[in-house]
Amino acid sequence: MKKIIIAIDGHSSCGKSTMAKQLARQLGYIYVDTGAMYRAVTLWALRHDYFLADGSISPMLESDIREERIAVSFVLNPETALPEVCLNGENVESHIRGIEVSNHVSPIAALPYVRAFLTLQQQRMGEQKGIVMDGRDIGTVVFPHAELKIFVTASAEMRAQRRYDELKAKGQEVAYDDILRNVQERDYIDSHREVAPLRQADDAVLLDNSSLTREEQNAWLLKLTQDRVSALA
Ligand code: DC
Repeated sequence: MKKIIIAIDGHSSCGKSTMAKQLARQLGYIYVDTGAMYRAVTLWALRHDYFLADGSISPMLESDIREERIAVSFVLNPETALPEVCLNGENVESHIRGIEVSNHVSPIAALPYVRAFLTLQQQRMGEQKGIVMDGRDIGTVVFPHAELKIFVTASAEMRAQRRYDELKAKGQEVAYDDILRNVQERDYIDSHREVAPLRQADDAVLLDNSSLTREEQNAWLLKLTQDRVSALA
């Protein structure tokens, strides 16, 4: 069967990665979570105190990237068969999902040199096709010629509730209002930044999953993919 590139973009916390992982598993494709890559760079910046008191980010981050002091890669977790993100070889998957990284990631993802660095790596990962990549600019910038593009959204309240339930289940002490504020702030920054803002590609299929169960959504996506691959064959 012909292998394609599937780009899944959309707002934060709308279940993109869950659906992308499931689809990749069903198709035997590689799954890449590009948000994890931006989160790993954010963790580096936090660990090095690059968030300055005046709200700016230290120019050291740019030299770290230019001088190749930061390497972002993935390693397969043998138990889950899912890729986990590494920062300079250290598996940081469990460090990048908390509220601290979430609160700092949008300004990092708005930096043109960070985007150029990560976009190039993402394009290399897709050279052999057979990939499901989720993010914000996959269908618009990383793979503008992807054979299938999906743009996922849901109401901010619904997304905040899902994120809240997820963090609670992991035993993290969080307040719903803080999560909602974080979701709304990230929507705003992600959609209004100058470089690669979050927007639906003209040829992307829109999915509002506010009232869909996970199973309904997965079935819909698998059928859409199979139809697209058959049409290309
Ligand atoms: O998908 P996520 O919430 O883990 O993404 C974290 C942040 O990274 C999010 O605020 C937007 C940014 N991001 C981006 O700008 N471009 C991508 N391709 C993926 C994520």
